Amino acid sequence: CGIVGYIGDRDCQNTLMAGLARLEYRGYDSAGIALVDATGGMHARKRAGKLKTLADDLANTPMADGHIGIGHTRWATHGAANDTNAHPHLSCGGKLAVIHNGIIENFAELRDELKADGVEFCSETDTEVAAHLLGREYDRTGDLVAAFRNVAPRLEGAFTLLAVHADQPDVIVGARLNSPLVIGLGEGENFLGSDVAAFVEHTSKAIAVGQAQIVIVRKDAVEIVDFDGNPATADEFEVNWDASAADKGGWDSFMAKEITENPEAVSNTLMGRIQDGAVTLSSLDVLGENYFREIDRITVIACGTAFYSGQTAAYAIERWAGIPVTLELAHEFRYRTPFITDRTLVISLSQSGETMDTLMAVRYAREHGAKTLSICNTQGASIPRESDAVVYTHAGPEVAVASTKAFTAQITALYLFGLYLAQERSTLSSDEIADLLDEFQTIPEKMRAVLEEHDRIKELAHWMADARSVLYLGRSTGFPIALEGALKLKEIAYIHAEGFAAGELKHGPIALIEPGQPVFVIVPSPRHDDSLHPKIVSNIQEIRARGARVLAVIEGGDATVLPYVDEAFACPPTSEFFEPLLRVIPLQIFALELSTAKGLDVDQPRNLAKSVTVE
Ligand code: G6P
Repeated sequence: CGIVGYIGDRDCQNTLMAGLARLEYRGYDSAGIALVDATGGMHARKRAGKLKTLADDLANTPMADGHIGIGHTRWATHGAANDTNAHPHLSCGGKLAVIHNGIIENFAELRDELKADGVEFCSETDTEVAAHLLGREYDRTGDLVAAFRNVAPRLEGAFTLLAVHADQPDVIVGARLNSPLVIGLGEGENFLGSDVAAFVEHTSKAIAVGQAQIVIVRKDAVEIVDFDGNPATADEFEVNWDASAADKGGWDSFMAKEITENPEAVSNTLMGRIQDGAVTLSSLDVLGENYFREIDRITVIACGTAFYSGQTAAYAIERWAGIPVTLELAHEFRYRTPFITDRTLVISLSQSGETMDTLMAVRYAREHGAKTLSICNTQGASIPRESDAVVYTHAGPEVAVASTKAFTAQITALYLFGLYLAQERSTLSSDEIADLLDEFQTIPEKMRAVLEEHDRIKELAHWMADARSVLYLGRSTGFPIALEGALKLKEIAYIHAEGFAAGELKHGPIALIEPGQPVFVIVPSPRHDDSLHPKIVSNIQEIRARGARVLAVIEGGDATVLPYVDEAFACPPTSEFFEPLLRVIPLQIFALELSTAKGLDVDQPRNLAKSVTVE
């Protein structure tokens, strides 16, 4: 879910709605806002469906003017996506409005307690429990901060709560535990948001609210205390996102725009980190001088697309730095006694830095003695803040739910890290590193060449709009790229898609091949030492013999494969480990165009959210 808050002289309704529009990728089942007018009246409006439904409703019947309010866009957990379950939830006879992100795990017993006290519930949500608890405490104490101090410690699970009360129209009070909250500091106004995207168009001065803290936000003052009421220190930072980067510009969708930003995502992530043919990652100094010589294993934890970026980069890191790299889905990691020692480095990958599964895995790793490195795209997010070290990707805001440029930026950061590790561990010579870095820096330009294939891929996608199943095959780094290609198609085109290691084909998946079955094949260059090219060509023969329609992503000029494929999309030549950064782009474009051809909402696919802050 996405949450926003505003207090100041601007038009509250419009400011909240603009903030919600920027956070809509966090959930779009329903949306609502509440504000207090000049005479101390509370107004709330909420609607099931995307933010546009609420916006249309407000355009028809605007709310009263107000200068303090909160807003919410929902990804349903407890209760269906309907008007009643949408936030805000009201208490105190409609004078108190509350919004919530997260899951209150002990909500059932709290609800029973409130029911026994005579409270009536209108929704099925866990949030309403928090609203009534706060309401009851407000009625007892007459103060919203006191109400939060009494209620927050009783809630288990994950929550960010924001509340306004009509009788205290000069303050927004919030609390967080295991869910994100940042404050945007303005002049005579202040903002709250799940992440900085909520307010980056207004201010770049931000505070990341710490764990188990309560915030008391007024027009010209911000106070932060812990759940016991002791003053807490504010972690202030400067947001370096360009606000306009979060606009669609002239593009039909954010995803279309973000795919074309792949080259900048890579070049900005490299920027300032290569000097005299070597990698500088000063943010890793905190880990200690000899640290990287002492570790004996790396475990990468992530979910979704981020997981596939880790899987892709693991091949290079092992080769370059001579260290075993294992991959773990974050939600599996801590439930199976993972092998961790103080010589294990745990690297988490997360675009948002808020994925709850990943955050919990990071905490687990730290508790078990490992050092943690976060590779993240979002400043001030929970995961980098709770990690020992961080290397930011500089992909800029990614708004489309299906991740594209953040994926290539993650691989870029991991490769930089792998080369840094090779430097520290002396597993590559400085000449080898310099050569790899020279090639690395050509990748953005080569990505631009791949983007030129867009129209041809679009044609293919439109032609394939009725496809019921698409398979993806690859070997080595082509394997995670196949998995990522399949994930993109599932996410936004709702087509059954699966990626396989091409060598695994004969062990089962080949039974799926029937005449006309489209299969994307990631073909490596034939020029690399020990290239897997001949093996992939054999796999192509095997599926062609059974009638598959082969769509290949190849190195431009690779004539040896052309006789065996139905369509080929060319990428410029590059060295082995940089190929996946190019090969993935046609697959991203294909998913985008197939979803478009089917008339679907590319940026906001059904059932998904970009930042999943529940386990
Ligand atoms: C969700 C999104 C995916 C994303 C994954 C990890 O499932 O729908 O697109 O890859 O979370 O997100 P993160 O922000 O941790 O990279």
